[in-house]
Amino acid sequence: MIVPVDVELVAQDANKASKRGDLVIVIDVVRATTSIITALSNGAKSVIPVQTVKEAMQLRRMHLDYLLTGEREGVKPKGFDLDNSPLSLTKENVEGKNLIMSTTNGTKALVQSRGSKWVLVGAFVNAEAVAKKSNEIASKNNVGISFVLAGQKNHFALEDFICAGGVIDKLPKGAVEFSDKAIGALLAYNGAKHNLQENIRKSKHAQELLKIGFGKDIEFACQIDLYSIVPCYKNGVTQV
Ligand code: MLT
Repeated sequence: MIVPVDVELVAQDANKASKRGDLVIVIDVVRATTSIITALSNGAKSVIPVQTVKEAMQLRRMHLDYLLTGEREGVKPKGFDLDNSPLSLTKENVEGKNLIMSTTNGTKALVQSRGSKWVLVGAFVNAEAVAKKSNEIASKNNVGISFVLAGQKNHFALEDFICAGGVIDKLPKGAVEFSDKAIGALLAYNGAKHNLQENIRKSKHAQELLKIGFGKDIEFACQIDLYSIVPCYKNGVTQV
């Protein structure tokens, strides 16, 4: 079967992908999905994405041993254990732990994708692995692949679009059929890839992170295929 590949540009459109019955790949490359993949690679048991800080706090009251992670305006919310930097989610900090995570856009995109049967977590750091796994599942089940980009407060985010193109680039040629948005993402990635970090830094959100001292996170997020795991979001929990 030829697998159709499409892209939803903002989290709010996740339901369009669910209605098509597609497998979803959620991308918030700077930084939520990069951070989830990193935490699980460093031995976290699970990451539970929630939409609001209040929900995160409520859930933690029921599970006092869970860690609270995430950000608002890029920094750790009051009462949280860790921020949303992938560099904070070290083995030392997260191994063997369950994490409750709330971020401005990325965790919302995951929760809003809950209507889809398969929801995978993607970023540059697992581009090859997520491309391979999504294609295997989609071909086997005769469904399409949709990228759900977290975006930035309901708006298009350049970095997520380029990252989707990076994953699309690794899908097997000939076995997939791209929508115009998927072709656009691929063209954007091909135009950006030779100077990936510098091009990702041009995005509005990366500029905001640079201003508050998180430049190293952008460098980290631009590492292609650092990990081979593909976290899946199911029943409210993200696990490998
Ligand atoms: C988000 O979810 O909006 C981002 O991951 C924000 C961030 O850079 O931490």
